[in-house]
Amino acid sequence: MVDLVFGSMAAQVVAACVKLGVPEALGQESRSADEVAAACGTPTRTTLRLLRAATALGLLSETEGAFSATPLGSLLRSDVPGSLHAFARVFTDPVMLRAWHRLDDGVRTGRTGFDEVFGTTFFDHLASEPDLSAAFNTAMSQGTHVVSGLLPDAYDFGRFGSVMDVGGGDGTLLAAVVRRHTGLRGVLFDSAEGSAGAGAVFDDAGVTERCTIAVGDFFTDVPAGAEAVLIKSVLHDWDDERATTILGHCRRALPDEGRLLVVEPVLPDTVDGTAPPVMYLSDLNMMVNLGGRERTRAEFEALLTGSGFTLTDVTPLPPSGFCLLEAVPR
Ligand SMILES: C[S@@+](CC[C@H](N)C(=O)[O-])C[C@H]1O[C@@H](n2cnc3c(N)ncnc32)[C@H](O)[C@@H]1O
Repeated sequence: MVDLVFGSMAAQVVAACVKLGVPEALGQESRSADEVAAACGTPTRTTLRLLRAATALGLLSETEGAFSATPLGSLLRSDVPGSLHAFARVFTDPVMLRAWHRLDDGVRTGRTGFDEVFGTTFFDHLASEPDLSAAFNTAMSQGTHVVSGLLPDAYDFGRFGSVMDVGGGDGTLLAAVVRRHTGLRGVLFDSAEGSAGAGAVFDDAGVTERCTIAVGDFFTDVPAGAEAVLIKSVLHDWDDERATTILGHCRRALPDEGRLLVVEPVLPDTVDGTAPPVMYLSDLNMMVNLGGRERTRAEFEALLTGSGFTLTDVTPLPPSGFCLLEAVPR
């Protein structure tokens, strides 16, 4: 019980290490608290206490007074493949956590805590905070890294000439799919803020020639022209009514023989231990910050049916925790 109650303090140890640059100060070396403190510009006395807590939590290991990053702690470095540096920073930021302090209120009233605290919606707030928005986009990209390694080979994208990623963020997933399937053209559809980094991502992946960026609002319209629509970690941001609007626009954008490819976690019908606790925490995070939700297979099926689609297949993408849900227009 004490571990659970102290859980948010553990997350702040992660946050402090990231903000102070502890993972970068250690790199792949073993260093004393003095050396880490000098690199971070912090006093040794307090730095040692942070390093000890980080060690107890499994982020570092200590041998004879020298600290080094464990494989887990190394994920907090900004410069390693699979980095979760921005992800850790964004999800421990006070902007993400303020509505959590009113979780009980959200459960009681059903209202979205973020909107009440900030007087605006999450994505409108991001639009007014360019630094936070850029960090959020990087965090989403880092959270998509594992799926990006799995999805291109988990589905036969080769049958399409074009695919559009709706709410595709900085294009990390689309770039991975298009790079793997050389006959495929890609369209990234997102807001101006959401898609801001996509040009650089396409350049890095060598797919700029085959990818375009379309800026717009998926509550107003989704451009037609692609044979398949990919949509990852977007539907869970919204309640059923808003998600139905987005899917309705996707339906109109697709040809009758097109495919909708939803990538989201799928909750089991009962809490039977097959889904990790983080999935249920994500569900509550959607509730307090966006008014959205994670869904069971039956809930996805109902949502898709109500939006003009028939669910045809659900493919788990282990170990990512995500599933690929394929649907066809009705
Ligand atoms: C949770 S992020 C998911 C990003 C990406 N698909 C991924 O999985 O990493 C949701 C995305 O929806 C975009 N978005 C939010 N509201 C939007 C709107 N009204 N129109 C278009 N895109 C929007 C955001 O900019 C963001 O990139």
